[in-house]
Amino acid sequence: MKFRKINKYEIVDIIGQGSMGVVYKCIDTVLNRYVALKTLNLQMASNTEIRERFYREAKILANLTHTNIVQVYELKEYENFCYIVMEYLEGESLKSIISNKKPLSPLSKLEIVRQIATGIAYAHSKGVIHRDLKPANIFIRDDGVVKILDFGVAKLKTSDMTAKGVILGTISYMAPEQLRGADVDERSDIFSIGAIMYEMFSYQKPFNATSVTDVMSKIVNKMPDYIPRATKDINDIIFKCLAKNPNERYQKAEKLIEAIEQVITKQKEKKQKSRSFIDHTITSQILNVKEQIKKLKELKNKIDSHINQAKKYLKEDKLEEAIKEAKIVLELDNANQEAEKVIEKAKKSIKLKEEQEKLKVKWIKEKLIEANEHYDSGNLIRACEVCESILKVDPSNHDAKVIKSICIKKIKEFLERVE
Ligand SMILES: Nc1ncnc2c1ncn2[C@@H]1O[C@H](COP(=O)(O)OP(=O)(O)OP(=O)(O)O)[C@@H](O)[C@H]1O
Ligand SMILES: [Mg+2]
Repeated sequence: MKFRKINKYEIVDIIGQGSMGVVYKCIDTVLNRYVALKTLNLQMASNTEIRERFYREAKILANLTHTNIVQVYELKEYENFCYIVMEYLEGESLKSIISNKKPLSPLSKLEIVRQIATGIAYAHSKGVIHRDLKPANIFIRDDGVVKILDFGVAKLKTSDMTAKGVILGTISYMAPEQLRGADVDERSDIFSIGAIMYEMFSYQKPFNATSVTDVMSKIVNKMPDYIPRATKDINDIIFKCLAKNPNERYQKAEKLIEAIEQVITKQKEKKQKSRSFIDHTITSQILNVKEQIKKLKELKNKIDSHINQAKKYLKEDKLEEAIKEAKIVLELDNANQEAEKVIEKAKKSIKLKEEQEKLKVKWIKEKLIEANEHYDSGNLIRACEVCESILKVDPSNHDAKVIKSICIKKIKEFLERVE
């Protein structure tokens, strides 16, 4: 670094290098704030015309105060060069955003262009034309505010500087009348905004070629291709800005702002509509899910009540009822394992009961034969006892009752006779 301090500005860092000199990050040692200091390699001392022009521009630039224009604090001379001091910006140049293909939505791109056009409209209202609008001279601050750099600097550039290989970068965005050396007015800046916008939406320069003469010839004679990835209204704005004839462009930056704002509003409405469609779909799906959860809860309660009833019947040995309840459960939930278990247990119990019943019938039959045999052999008391054992198991057994009563009657007659 050649200098550590330029007047009251202490150099902290080098920000970059342009065609006219270096941009430094400095501390203003009096006001104690960061500033950007751009040196301009003008041969001031030897050329009074340049010096006069420089100070004329200085006054104009320092008076341009707008949100979208970098604030110039002062323009001064130091040793054999002069410099511009301006507010220090944190963010990124549009040039680096484009070359890095930083993902930006069409709406954010339109918003950047809207801010560029707003800053330009203000400058035009003060009678200042930028003359060198290009992505390198547009700065996007970290908070999204767009700042236009290098106002009026183009006027200070000499053919000497533009010869240093940077001419391509500069002329690519220039209007045809500017290249022809004709009078430059507000509409030339509007052309440049169109060229910047073209590059933002297509990632290609509208008039791209390897040699300066080819670029110039394209700017004067050719229209670029339509941008397929941009909407028709965005293409319309770009192509109106890029009209070869200045009379066919937006005549005022305000008209360009109007057109951009219309597209912004349209796109926001479209976004809002698709968002509310999504919101509506999600809401109805949530309602659907809620409704389904409600129905599932009701179903679960129903199943629980039937399964509890089935278990209760099983405990109470009401086997048929238990099976009936469990079958209702299976109709509601055909894989319900609890219901299947209840049915299995109930069926086992029924089978067991039937077997017990068969054994009982067989035993009663044998006992009745035994009672009859005792009766036939006159062993009335024994016959009576056997009948009683049958009646204990089957209290309503008719045969046992009859045999028992006959036996008792005969025993009574016998006793009466004996007495
Ligand atoms: N006020 C500022 N705050 C922060 N960075 C800045 C500021 N002004 C310029 N820069 C950065 O300094 C670098 C050099 O800018 P400069 O204007 O010298 O070059 P250029 O725009 O590429 O070419 P030209 O000489 O044609 O303007 C760029 O990266 C730019 O973003
Ligand atoms: Mg610049």
